Amino acid sequence: MPLLEINSLTVDYPTRVGTVRAVDRVSISVEKGQTLGIVGESGCGKSTLGLAVIRLVPSPGIMTEGSIMIDGTDIMRLSNNEVRELRGKVGFIFQDPMTSLNPVKRIGDHFVEFIRTHEKEVSRQEALEKTGKILESLGILRERTTDYPHQFSGGMRQRVMIGLGLALNPKLLIADEPTTSLDVIVEAQILELMNKLKKDYDLTLILITHNIGIVAEMSDLIAVMYAGRVVEFGPTEQIFENPLHPYTKGLLESAPNILHPERSMHPIPGSPPDLISPPPGCKFHPRCPHAFEPCPLREPFLVMKERRFVACHLYD
Ligand SMILES: Nc1ncnc2c1ncn2[C@@H]1O[C@H](COP(=O)(O)OP(=O)(O)O)[C@@H](O)[C@H]1O
Ligand SMILES: [Mg+2]
Repeated sequence: MPLLEINSLTVDYPTRVGTVRAVDRVSISVEKGQTLGIVGESGCGKSTLGLAVIRLVPSPGIMTEGSIMIDGTDIMRLSNNEVRELRGKVGFIFQDPMTSLNPVKRIGDHFVEFIRTHEKEVSRQEALEKTGKILESLGILRERTTDYPHQFSGGMRQRVMIGLGLALNPKLLIADEPTTSLDVIVEAQILELMNKLKKDYDLTLILITHNIGIVAEMSDLIAVMYAGRVVEFGPTEQIFENPLHPYTKGLLESAPNILHPERSMHPIPGSPPDLISPPPGCKFHPRCPHAFEPCPLREPFLVMKERRFVACHLYD
């Protein structure tokens, strides 16, 4: 049984000017211990998908269709209390540590409050002890629990965010652009740390990023999202060796190529569509160098091709 199984999930944000379909019939499954990379440009629905998994889609978002199973439990059917337990089982690391940490609260108190909200029987002392252990596993001295967030560097703050994600011993950790606000050297350290933690804490990991380059070494599987849809989903190696969807190819060509640094980068022209009124047919067709007759007319189905799923008229 997969640890996470998402089936035909649709998430809408009704707004005054129309409904944004941020996630559109997405199906994904992840086995225990795997790392899934979710990639795509900004505005393609990645964060909304991640937040849906912990039932934290921001207002006015609603899940209008589909199901999300974690360890065999349908999380759409949980009571409020059970949702609180779910947030213990699934850790979430947000993109920007500076806005997620309270500037007037000591680092240790962030942990103590978070732990004790979910585990009511834990004393303050026990929670601090646990915090010390977590910080040490992240390469931060336990004495620093009395520091305030501004006393930490950007990379250290991101370590703290990862620590908070781990504080309740989750089975599944979702990291949403965990290195976007960091420089490349610190980014590499954080990614290496996450790989180590994944083994130490026996985690299943979902790594959300707009940078396809960083999932190359981290993930077993990749889901490429465009305009709310998964357009390609399969094993990382195959997607890097032989991307099928023109959008996946475009993402790979627009990122620095680790294997071939001499190759120049070609950004995809244009930008993702407004999700209130996306183009008809394949939503990528206005930007696609391979678009032909059916593309503006019919939406392609996700079909199995060369051991992965792809939604493109070139293959159906
Ligand atoms: N609270 C909200 N209200 C209305 N629209 C939203 C809200 N949050 C996100 N969206 C829209 O949903 C779409 C997907 O956003 P998001 O999930 O943040 O994508 P990504 O993480 O890939 O950048 C975008 O069009 C965005 O404008
Ligand atoms: Mg996002």
